[in-house]
Amino acid sequence: IRRAVPLGIGHYLPDRIVPNSHFESLVDTSDEWIRTRSGIERRHFASEGQTTSDLAVRAARAALENAGIDVSEIDGIIVATSTPDLTFPSVGTMVQAELGMTRGFAFDVQAVCAGFIYALCNANAMIVSGQADRLLVIGAETFSRIMDWTDRSTCVLFGDGAGALILGAEDGAGTSNDRGILATDLNSDGRYREMLYVDGGVSTTGTSGKLRMQGNPLFRQAVDKLTSTAEAALEKTGVTPEDVDWIVPHQANIRIIQGTAKKMGVPMERVIQTVQDHGNTSAASIPLALSVGVADGRIERGHLILSEAIGGGLAWGAVALRW
Ligand code: ACO
Repeated sequence: IRRAVPLGIGHYLPDRIVPNSHFESLVDTSDEWIRTRSGIERRHFASEGQTTSDLAVRAARAALENAGIDVSEIDGIIVATSTPDLTFPSVGTMVQAELGMTRGFAFDVQAVCAGFIYALCNANAMIVSGQADRLLVIGAETFSRIMDWTDRSTCVLFGDGAGALILGAEDGAGTSNDRGILATDLNSDGRYREMLYVDGGVSTTGTSGKLRMQGNPLFRQAVDKLTSTAEAALEKTGVTPEDVDWIVPHQANIRIIQGTAKKMGVPMERVIQTVQDHGNTSAASIPLALSVGVADGRIERGHLILSEAIGGGLAWGAVALRW
């Protein structure tokens, strides 16, 4: 059967690194509070004028180089983002133009922090159904642009960055030993919109708005929903948590990451953590963490990876894939 197999990965983080201490003069907070409540120590912020598509293009070039593939061999681009350069055209088409790709297609997917999982599910479906052979899947965000710098409960948590994964069609035996995406699980429940939203938009205020979050209620939803979607994805593959080599989770809060791993019975030694260095980069956090894990040699060919994410919507989901 056709599988969507990883061919290459790359990422880009803006040069500007902002330590927690930066916020001590902005709002009533402390490095200690941020570290202990979220696990975040630093994050990258895009420089003035640097846009989401700029970050996405850098990550895409890194992934193409890693795969040893020319952009002319890519059939389509899917970008997961909630912080596009413009309302339209899509970041995907901007990346397409910048990469010099004049055939194929490009579009954006918007599922906030679950965006990369949603994008992977789309890419997998297109590859498995034969609509595409090679896809570039990107998570890219500039959440610094939607921060309320007077709100201590949110402004310390987010960062900017981009990660890109190239998927290609390969024939598999149809077992859980195949490389590639083995199973996906998607969920959303729009009744939770007040928990995490941006208070502006084209058809309401006409402004881009700022992020608003009820952190604690969201925290309490997160571990349960992440565990159940992760377990659902594993169940579809017929493997157990013991078979998972790496959990590569959305990086919102170290306590959520720990809580989910614990509930699944996977020790933290088998979890890729980047939240301390990147903060919450929304749809970019999973491809960033994957790229870091591959670059430092922890993730190897043949490893079973489980990724899960939850974000605004609420929207949540999981992907099981063999690297
Ligand atoms: N510095 C100091 N104190 C703070 C800060 C800060 N930066 N922010 C909040 N506080 C205070 C609060 O005001 C509160 O004070 P009070 O007790 O006097 O009212 C106290 O700290 C505790 O606040 P809680 O919100 O209860 O703290 P909690 O342990 O829940 O941690 C956090 C807060 C880190 C936001 C956590 O709830 C969290 O990570 N939530 C989930 C975030 C998440 O997963 N988002 C979804 C994905 S993101 C996306 O989709 C874009």
